[in-house]
Amino acid sequence: MKALPPLTLSEPEMRAIMAEVGNMIVDHFVNLPNLPVTQPSTLANLRSGLQETLPLNPTPVSDVLKQVQQFVLSEMTHNDHPRNFAFVPGPSNFVGAMADAISSALNIFCGAWIGPSGTAQIELMTIEWLRQLFEFPASGGGLFVSGGSMANLTCLAVARHTNLANNPANATVYFSDQTHSSVAKGLKILGFQQYQLRKLPSDESFCLPMDALAQKIAADRQQGLVPFCVVANAGTTNAGAIDPLEKIADFCAAEGLWMHVDGAYGGSAAISKTGRGVLAGMNRADSLSIDPHKWMFQPYEIGCALIRNQEHLKDTFKVSAEYLKIIEQSAEQPNFSDYGVQLTRGFRALKLWMSLKAFGVEAFREAIEIGIENALYTEGLLRQSSDWEIITPASLGILTFRFVAKNLSEDQLSQLNSDMASEMITSGYAMLSPTVMRGKTVQRMCTINPRTTRADIETTIAKLHKIGVGMSLG
Ligand SMILES: Cc1ncc(COP(=O)(O)O)c(C=O)c1O
Repeated sequence: MKALPPLTLSEPEMRAIMAEVGNMIVDHFVNLPNLPVTQPSTLANLRSGLQETLPLNPTPVSDVLKQVQQFVLSEMTHNDHPRNFAFVPGPSNFVGAMADAISSALNIFCGAWIGPSGTAQIELMTIEWLRQLFEFPASGGGLFVSGGSMANLTCLAVARHTNLANNPANATVYFSDQTHSSVAKGLKILGFQQYQLRKLPSDESFCLPMDALAQKIAADRQQGLVPFCVVANAGTTNAGAIDPLEKIADFCAAEGLWMHVDGAYGGSAAISKTGRGVLAGMNRADSLSIDPHKWMFQPYEIGCALIRNQEHLKDTFKVSAEYLKIIEQSAEQPNFSDYGVQLTRGFRALKLWMSLKAFGVEAFREAIEIGIENALYTEGLLRQSSDWEIITPASLGILTFRFVAKNLSEDQLSQLNSDMASEMITSGYAMLSPTVMRGKTVQRMCTINPRTTRADIETTIAKLHKIGVGMSLG
């Protein structure tokens, strides 16, 4: 038999591995609700299973898969688990995962039209669908990136280029203290110093206060600074708080400021009826970050930077090079590498395109409504017992609350609530991530997984209550 080239498997070997991997994946989707959400491994166990010398010789793929199954997959935290309420979960979907398998297996390059043009057309189409869903004008366009952080960085780079001709000297940018850290990180990468980042204390609803914003900008102008951008939240990570988007849009228009909306967590909700109502004004942004790998149910990684005037993207990022001349095309045949940081890019659009087509937009709207209703349902349950204090009511898919055992100081209550969440994680039944609101450590739940049932919520709250009672007595 003819020897195969290096790094190549025979057809029977590939088919056998495909079957094994396929079964692993389907088993995951079928068994997930009955698996522990978290199953933290010990460092000793991980070291015994994964700390190895450099593999100079081949190992059968089947054995490699067994090792992955035993030491990685069976001991992981499942972000797509229906009882994972921590951070912003990643509920994902099977069709999207299959799309990723195809784009990875065929190693599809999506940086230039000259590559497989059909892939570029699908990316254009999917961006166009998002433009329509988020009600941006016909001039709008965008780019798929790795996630919300890269979407924020991309949008802020466009803002800096467009409003400041790329020169950040003396320019200032405004946002509330509830804004995701990726905004400050992006600005830091873009050359802004700490003093140029105007982080304003949020109001009692954890939103950007308009009066303080206007005063700060007026004062900064007087000092000779150059206010250029306001970053608004379409759902904060901590509490789901939505900044006053219409007012911010009016203000930015009047003051000649760039309005960027970080909708990485909550922005996707605007495609649902409820979300569209509470996020009114989001479509007036100059730029918008959306994160389909959160509330549009896609596998990691896919974020999206939507820009009101898509020409600004190219103006910001395009750099010519001799060896790239051959790929330069017309405006109708864009090279996505001209629209952002990456030259070589994978085919992220395929998963969103395939799942939008396979399920239809109505299913996405319904899935989002379930997340919103589940947050309200959780709040209703908590309000039935005086042992719980609602800190911030359900806002889109997030709420915060705490267990309030009598006769404990504020510090003790914070410690208790933090310990309760840790105990829940150790139990593996559900995962919550506590957060700090105005100095208090509180429970926080994000209910965006459409496969979460009311029974999941009821049992999670009952177990958390039991843990709280047990700990406050002990
Ligand atoms: C509001 C907000 N912005 C940005 C991000 C960063 O997104 P990513 O983790 O996809 O980079 C997050 C992540 O949770 C977020 O909630």
